[in-house]
Amino acid sequence: MNDMSVKIGGVNIPGRTALAPLAGITDRSFRMLCRQQGASFAVTEMVSAKGLADGSERSNQYLDFEADEFPISAQLFGSEPEVMAEGARVVAERNPDIIDINCGCPVKKIVTRNAGAALLNTPERLGQIIAAMVRAVDIPVTLKIRSGWSQANQAVAVARIAEDSGAAAIAVHGRTREAKFGGRADWDIIAEVKNAVSIPVIGNGDVRGPEAAKEIMQKTGCDLVMVGRWAIGNPWLFKRMEVFLNRGELLPEPTHGDRLEMAVHHLKASIAFKGLRYGVLEMRRHLAAYIKGVPGAARYRRTLMTEDDPNHLMDLLGQIKAEGRRDT
Ligand SMILES: Cc1cc2nc3c(=O)[nH]c(=O)nc-3n(C[C@H](O)[C@H](O)[C@H](O)COP(=O)(O)O)c2cc1C
Repeated sequence: MNDMSVKIGGVNIPGRTALAPLAGITDRSFRMLCRQQGASFAVTEMVSAKGLADGSERSNQYLDFEADEFPISAQLFGSEPEVMAEGARVVAERNPDIIDINCGCPVKKIVTRNAGAALLNTPERLGQIIAAMVRAVDIPVTLKIRSGWSQANQAVAVARIAEDSGAAAIAVHGRTREAKFGGRADWDIIAEVKNAVSIPVIGNGDVRGPEAAKEIMQKTGCDLVMVGRWAIGNPWLFKRMEVFLNRGELLPEPTHGDRLEMAVHHLKASIAFKGLRYGVLEMRRHLAAYIKGVPGAARYRRTLMTEDDPNHLMDLLGQIKAEGRRDT
């Protein structure tokens, strides 16, 4: 598919699949693993533009990417054009390839501040935000939206305004704000957006495997596929999707042993980037996903979810692996 490689603004995207932004999940270690496993680019967790504009240490910590992750997209949330532009300037100092605007977060704390999915209800202001950010930085500005607030009826109008305001690409999660994560993602709305704009469209929602990646591309015509939850505990998914999209070949699923080895590798990376305490704490959700369905792992789940000592954790993962080997 090299002949069809996608560009976001001037940024060359070296494949078809991207890791979605997931607050609390897509930190540096997980983004690195997914990139190593074939994701064409990854998006940071969402960062507050106001926090960055105010010089908040905590907000800055989310911008923990390094050159080895490029191309990388940094996601901002906020509601005021000037604040978003200032946040973009701060982010641009770290040299990401792309800056993304969160227009999909359904969480009350965010939408009551007119940010996240609430921006779908104020398309004119969203247009001003995009235009202000595009003026403020030299790199492409993109956005990630839901299909609408309570009905899937806002995405097309928002996408047109975004394109007119200078957005370089748009990711569409085919669910409304009210649906949150319930029901099935509506891929028809992604097709409608694709028909309405000429900037690259990134399809997102319920892409659980290689066949689904092909299906969403065929059904919607989207240029790239973005995967969030289904990559947790499963970073191999990206390579499997890329190979299936390129050659129609279905690579085997990782073995239980592969998963336990990746869990250890991920844990080490998490500790290297975040230190012992947070490195272990923030691995819990990933560990639960790596061991899901691994024979014999269920009885260790509780310990894995409460253990603070990384050496014990690694021993346990090794033990589960050895027991699995003995059982087969
Ligand atoms: C725990 C969690 C955190 C998320 N955080 C963000 C975020 O920070 N920014 C964003 O645009 N979307 C966020 N999302 C939405 C995902 O990027 C994605 O649109 C959604 O999960 C649907 O895709 P999937 O079916 O591949 O998971 C989050 C979703 C989950 C489950």
